Amino acid sequence: MKPSKKSYILMLYLIGMIFEVNAINYCSNHTFPTSLGTNFMQFTKETVTKEYAVDGQFKALHCCAKGYRSIEWLKDGKRYPWSSEDTSSLILYPQESNQTIYARRASNVDEGQYTCVLRNDTYKLEHNIQLRILESSPDVPLATFTPQNQFADIGGSARFFCEAFVGKKDLPDISISIKWYHMSDGNQDDVINDNQQEVVKREEEEIIGSYLTISEVTSSHFGRYLCRVEMGNSQTHHLELSAELINALPMEDYATDIFRNPYFLATFTAVLTFVLFFLVFYSRFKAIGPRKLDSFEM
Ligand SMILES: *[C@@H]1O[C@H](CO)[C@@H](O)[C@H](O)[C@H]1NC(C)=O
Ligand SMILES: *[C@@H]1O[C@H](CO)[C@@H](O)[C@H](O)[C@H]1NC(C)=O
Ligand SMILES: *[C@@H]1O[C@H](CO)[C@@H](O)[C@H](O)[C@H]1NC(C)=O
Repeated sequence: MKPSKKSYILMLYLIGMIFEVNAINYCSNHTFPTSLGTNFMQFTKETVTKEYAVDGQFKALHCCAKGYRSIEWLKDGKRYPWSSEDTSSLILYPQESNQTIYARRASNVDEGQYTCVLRNDTYKLEHNIQLRILESSPDVPLATFTPQNQFADIGGSARFFCEAFVGKKDLPDISISIKWYHMSDGNQDDVINDNQQEVVKREEEEIIGSYLTISEVTSSHFGRYLCRVEMGNSQTHHLELSAELINALPMEDYATDIFRNPYFLATFTAVLTFVLFFLVFYSRFKAIGPRKLDSFEM
């Protein structure tokens, strides 16, 4: 009896240590380059909106930020601390300045909407996270972060992120992959150089994500990017998420381009026709108008 209890405690301790290392890395790693060297209140990396956990397994939620005076967590509108029987068993992780909350063993009571509220002297920033508890690992990857469209100037930089919950795989040979593609004119995917994309994993590889970084945007970089997550049989067990890199056109280019835009031309022609029609109508009215008035006076 005694040794097994000891080893159980040791195991818990080791799991705790593994979590601690992960949690410490999460908010301090992969922060937006723009957040460095600034101190105003802001989120410091992509904010995940959907989270999943398998019943009975470890779960952490994060709200990575800086420049705030206070951080507060709510679950379905109820302020922390919560009752673990009827609201949530997630607790604050002070080592990460309360930006992380976690449960060693998540259960159905933890399901719901979590909100972190950041405040400075004048403003309030909020972020919502929907947590779902699953009976078992899913058959298809579930999106936790969907990439967002972005504007960029030529010579500027861009970063896309996508992430999915894949859960634990019972069979060790089930392959899981995540990859970014640049969509060309047709449906042809251009494979992106591996040094432009970085795969990240958290919660014992149950969540897999990838950063696509374009450090210097050229005109060939614009267009749609596709993030494909594949699990085992990729024919049926995959997830595709996409976002567009849009040229933030400088004003002078826009002025010459506008006359080549078919929508603009159609609108312009319609307005011109209307104005001409009105002018013709008005001049005729002016011509017959006074006579009509005369006839009324008679
Ligand atoms: C981010 O974490 C990885 C390991 O997860 C580490 O190799 C890398 O150096 C970290 N990067 C930064 C900027 O801390
Ligand atoms: C409070 O946060 C807002 C939003 O990030 C920021 O614009 C403002 O400068 C901050 N005010 C102070 C006093 O830090
Ligand atoms: C974290 O939360 C605890 C308990 O609410 C509080 O005492 C502590 O000051 C908080 N720490 C930070 C850095 O906000």
